[in-house]
Amino acid sequence: MGRKAIITGVGHYAPPKVLTNQDLMQMVDTNDEWIFSRTGIRERRILEGDRGSSYMAHQAAEMALKNSHTDPKDIDLIIVATVTPDTLFPSTACRVQDMLGADKAWGVDLNGACSGFLYALSTGAQFIESGMHQKVLVIGADKMSAIVDYTDRTTCILFGDAAGAVLLEPQESDDPHTGVIDAILRSDGEGARHLYMMGGGSLHPATHETVDNKMHYIYQDGQTVFKFAVKGMADVSAEILEKHQLTGKQIKYFIPHQANLRIIDAAARRMKLNDDQVVVNIERYGNTTAATIPLALSEVYYDNKLEKGDYLVMAAFGAGFTWGSLLLRWAI
Ligand SMILES: CC(C)(COP(=O)(O)OP(=O)(O)OC[C@H]1O[C@@H](n2cnc3c(N)ncnc32)[C@H](O)[C@@H]1OP(=O)(O)O)[C@@H](O)C(=O)NCCC(=O)NCCS
Repeated sequence: MGRKAIITGVGHYAPPKVLTNQDLMQMVDTNDEWIFSRTGIRERRILEGDRGSSYMAHQAAEMALKNSHTDPKDIDLIIVATVTPDTLFPSTACRVQDMLGADKAWGVDLNGACSGFLYALSTGAQFIESGMHQKVLVIGADKMSAIVDYTDRTTCILFGDAAGAVLLEPQESDDPHTGVIDAILRSDGEGARHLYMMGGGSLHPATHETVDNKMHYIYQDGQTVFKFAVKGMADVSAEILEKHQLTGKQIKYFIPHQANLRIIDAAARRMKLNDDQVVVNIERYGNTTAATIPLALSEVYYDNKLEKGDYLVMAAFGAGFTWGSLLLRWAI
């Protein structure tokens, strides 16, 4: 018998305020046709008021705990994947730990940008499989509106705010294809010059100059990132199937990071999937960075579309560059 990490609870939170393509047309020189045809996005959500990513992370976590009938006091570890922590320190995970009243949990933030949730899910699974922990909460949460320049039409159309969460617990099983089966995780720091936020870290601490130069916003060379993303995400998605001798037909759902519909389509084609196997909600949320995959998973779950034994493949690409895929077998 082997000890496997399975998902036993799922939750998500998307703030109620909607920012549509029409709204953006009032702010920058753009239009619905351009945005939708190039990205697949119609609208995104914006977190209002005096709230940070921890607010959304907490909401998503509460939903996942309720779903699995789990007392927060039994959680061992909270991992929050985010590039928009409430503060550089203390971590957003510590804030969520306090909000939940998860008294015995330790918490840590993980920055893998758009691949953050896959990195975090894979990390959390190791703590379960090793026997060190019984209950690990893995959250992806990003308030991208905090770091988007709403005068830059090349980036402001892409991003939105949301959070998603899963609870991992152990299950003893003879079948290696139980719960989190495997992940292929990659990084290439050469990509740093194509997608970044320069200001606010130790290299360029906040000064009047960094603010004047708009260094506290996301910058990306969209075309270059697009090319790397298409190849990177498709490669690891196909590779994880091959490694486990699975075909696209055996996969119930492909849950990709939602950055651009054309990137998703390229990966789905490489895996030889039909449209109904590919989970897409980018139209309603845009790119919510670490939140896209758990948000999409949670929507599929609450639509009652998942059955025990279903194979799922997740894949992502983001700043770093970071990318990866994860193979999972639904176990509840
Ligand atoms: C950002 C992205 C949608 C841009 O699409 P694209 O097809 O590459 O478009 P381009 O950047 O080549 O721009 C084409 C033209 O549209 C213009 N344009 C850019 N943004 C626009 C907007 N919001 N509205 C209208 N026109 C726009 C450009 O100025 C350019 O005009 P030009 O030809 O006169 O110079 C696309 O590159 C992309 O999705 N990149 C990857 C994003 C990503 O995955 N990021 C990872 C984060 S995890």
